[in-house]
Amino acid sequence: MSDQTATSRAEMPKAANPILERRTVENSNRNLLKHLKPGLSVLDVGCGSGAITRGIAERVGPQGRVLGIDPSENLIVQARSHSESLPQLAFQQADIYSYETAERFDIVTCARVLQWLAKPEEALARMANLVKPGGFLAVLDYNHEKVEWTPEPPEAMRKFYGAFLKWRQEAGFDNAIADNLKAHFEQLGFTEITIEPQFESSVKTEPTFAVASRIWSEVAELRGPQLVRDGYVSEEDRLAAIEAYDQWIATTGESMQLYLLAVEAKK
Ligand SMILES: C[S@@+](CC[C@H](N)C(=O)[O-])C[C@H]1O[C@@H](n2cnc3c(N)ncnc32)[C@H](O)[C@@H]1O
Repeated sequence: MSDQTATSRAEMPKAANPILERRTVENSNRNLLKHLKPGLSVLDVGCGSGAITRGIAERVGPQGRVLGIDPSENLIVQARSHSESLPQLAFQQADIYSYETAERFDIVTCARVLQWLAKPEEALARMANLVKPGGFLAVLDYNHEKVEWTPEPPEAMRKFYGAFLKWRQEAGFDNAIADNLKAHFEQLGFTEITIEPQFESSVKTEPTFAVASRIWSEVAELRGPQLVRDGYVSEEDRLAAIEAYDQWIATTGESMQLYLLAVEAKK
C-alpha cells in the first residue's frame, strides 16, 4: 500500500472524539509521572486534542515549556481552545515525518501514535533527534493482537475487530507495535531501555466498565465509516457490531483489557 493510503487511514475522524478527551496524564500516560518536574521542556508528538498534554503542562508548571504537535488541524484547534490558562503550553499543527525545529526537549513523549504510522522507525529516529542529551524518549503504544475480553465478545464485534486489524495491517501499520518498540529503540543505538506494562483493564464491578469497555463501539462509530468507505465491512455489519457489543456490555460482558507498553530510554 502507498504512503498516501497510510496517511488517509491514519487521519483522525472529524467528529468529536470522546475517547481522546477522557484521557489524562494520570489515567492514560502514567509512565510520564516519574519524569515530570517543574521547569522541564516536553514535546508531545501526536497530542490529539491535548487532554494529556494539558496535564503534562500543569506538572512542569509556568517555568516549564510544553509543545504538542499533531497533523490534524481540527484537533489542534480543539487543543488550543482548552489551553489559554497555561502560558507554558503551546500547540502546533505538524507531522512528525516533516517537523523541523532547532529546539531540543528534556522529554519527547509519543502515546498511541506509532500504531498509526507505516514507518515507525523513521518517526522514532526523528523523535530521538529532538531529545536533549540526558533527556528521555518515552513511547506508549498498543499490541492490538493482545486485547482480552471475558467472555468472548459477540461474533458481530469479532468480525468488525478482525476487519479493523486487517484494514490497519494492509495500510502498513504494525498491530503489535508495543512488542516491537524495544527492537526499534535498539536500532537507534539506545542501550538502557525500560519497558513498563501499562495495561488498561476494566471490569464489570467498576463503575467505569460501561464507558471504558465501550471503546470498541466508539471505534466502530468513529473509525468504522473509514472501513466501510475502504470496503472492509458493510454498513450493516458495522451497525450490527455496535448493537451486539453494547448488548454484551449491558449483559454478559465481564472484563476487557487493552495491552499497552511504555518503552523509554535516556539519551
Ligand atoms: C490515537 S491518537 C492519540 C492521541 C494522544 N496522544 C492520546 O494518547 O490520547 C493518535 C494521534 O496521532 C496523530 N498522528 C497521526 N499521524 C501522525 C504523524 N505523522 N505525526 C504526528 N502525529 C500523528 C493523529 O492525528 C492523532 O491525533
